[in-house]
Amino acid sequence: MIPKDIIEEIRYRCDIEDVIGSYVTLKRAGSNRNGLCPFHGEKTPSFTVFPATKSFYCFGCGAGGDVITFIQKMENLDYVGSLEFLAARAGITIPNDSSYMEKDKVSRKRVYEMNMEAAKFFRNCLFDPVLGQEGMRYLTEKRQFSPVTIKRFGFGYAPNNFGLLTQHMRKLGYTEEELITAFLCGRSQKTGKLFDLFRERVVIPVIDAAGNVVAFSARALDAATPNKYMNTSDTPAFKKSRILFGMNYAKNHCAEQMILCEGAMDAIALQAAGFENAVATLGTAITSEHARLLARYTKRVLINYDSDAAGQKATHKAMALLDQVGLEVRVLKLTGAKDADEYLKQYGADAFRSIIEQGSTGFDFKMDSVLAHNDVTQVEGKIRAARELAAIIAAVGSGVERELYIDAAAKRLGISAEGLANDVKRNRASAAREQKKKESRDAMMSARSFGDRINPDAAKDPAAAAAEEIVLGLLLLYPEHRKAVISANTPVEASDFFTDFHRRAFTAIIEMEQSEGGFVFSALGEQFSPDEIGRLVRIQQDRQALTHNGSDVLSAAADTLKQRREKREALQNGDFQSELARRRAEFKRK
Ligand code: UTP
Ligand code: MN
Repeated sequence: MIPKDIIEEIRYRCDIEDVIGSYVTLKRAGSNRNGLCPFHGEKTPSFTVFPATKSFYCFGCGAGGDVITFIQKMENLDYVGSLEFLAARAGITIPNDSSYMEKDKVSRKRVYEMNMEAAKFFRNCLFDPVLGQEGMRYLTEKRQFSPVTIKRFGFGYAPNNFGLLTQHMRKLGYTEEELITAFLCGRSQKTGKLFDLFRERVVIPVIDAAGNVVAFSARALDAATPNKYMNTSDTPAFKKSRILFGMNYAKNHCAEQMILCEGAMDAIALQAAGFENAVATLGTAITSEHARLLARYTKRVLINYDSDAAGQKATHKAMALLDQVGLEVRVLKLTGAKDADEYLKQYGADAFRSIIEQGSTGFDFKMDSVLAHNDVTQVEGKIRAARELAAIIAAVGSGVERELYIDAAAKRLGISAEGLANDVKRNRASAAREQKKKESRDAMMSARSFGDRINPDAAKDPAAAAAEEIVLGLLLLYPEHRKAVISANTPVEASDFFTDFHRRAFTAIIEMEQSEGGFVFSALGEQFSPDEIGRLVRIQQDRQALTHNGSDVLSAAADTLKQRREKREALQNGDFQSELARRRAEFKRK
């Protein structure tokens, strides 16, 4: 455990407004601040920072917590990792006592360390005239990378040998379990021995924005090998849905726009040709997490996917995800080559630069694809295309943009702009009706606490759950109420709680109040997940918004809990009695 006074100091020195403000643009809203939530896509701000309680909460997605929870979610760290991150930011040293670390788990830091050693090993192999000969030839001849590029990206080579890396890493003191967890070694089913996972491949280290080697992507020398690429699976240090290859360099060249490609090799070829704002996803389609990451760095994304059918389909998906987080999107159309890497080899950097200048807007790309799959020389095709385009234009938020698109589309189809505008209007009206319906459905669901993942029991006795929230809100906010519960002036106990989540929270708050150092909200992060902390902040905030928070409110809620409990017990008893009567009657009949 990290000592509570250190946690308090970290929370005190890392002002929540400053920290969150470095990720999210915050605007003053009364005594609070709000902005666009970094944890879900939204266009109107529902993300709020409460300086008074040093907490944040998003009314859109329910994410919430303190500065520690925020960093956990934002930087993809666990509780201890987040404390370390903030401590480093504030220049606080956490006492060098590793007893707070879980002993048997492999930490993220340890994986970074192993990856760094492995990267050095692979690099030495590549530069070894014997071991690395084939790999070096592949990089310089087939891929035409310069020595500068090879060094800059830290390329390496994994020789065709099952044990070289394993032996090297074991010599450095890493355990078998650690090597397996880091996805560097596998264990043979037959012999039970460890073996190198990457073999006979050029190895590209994947480096995050902070400069850690988080994973590897390894390309077979022969494209016909079953797995042309082999990438690190998820480890304690790596989640592929959150990493963009090349970000470590691209982050310094992204003020205006970034280029998103499908493969790491494309990002490298682009950066080497002077397009240093190129990044790539790693062996996965783009996710909403990637989109949010991009939105943190830049304003505009140029999608540069393969020119085949799969690439075009992926382009549509990426456009939707990027649009959701408010990014401006353009699509780069490559003709005469499959991907950026091949295009550059064939036509050079200047040609690529003019492709960037011609980059079509998201709408042009969509219009082209509608026109490509409808035969607009025929009436039916024209009608279908008009219908599809009306739906696409209806989804555009800005009225000015809609008008421009309507004109462009009408011209391409050879129809009147008024007719198309009417269709767009009708589409928007029905979408608005749908949205309203969905919202009232959602509101009903949440009123009945359906689909409450954090506290699923609440739906079974909403009245009890509501009273529990009152008790917890008061206990989270006021030390005098915590003391009253402990001294039994207000008799509430864990067994009065019906819902499991609230009972856990109650127990944790009261136990912490009685422990050394007393109650510290931030220390709850050790026992509760970021989502659960978010819920506790909401409960606290609901209470904070009310002015009347005296001991009478607490006693009334405590009474309600007891009544609900008696009612449930009576009901259970009642069921028992009637069952007994039924069995007796049955017995008599026999
Ligand atoms: P491509 O097949 O388009 O490869 O896969 P590429 O990037 O052009 O690769 P080169 O030029 O032949 O070396 C696109 C991306 O899909 C992932 C990789 O991340 C690759 O960059 N991929 C592909 C895999 O993860 N595994 C595979 O076996 C193939
Ligand atoms: Mn390629």
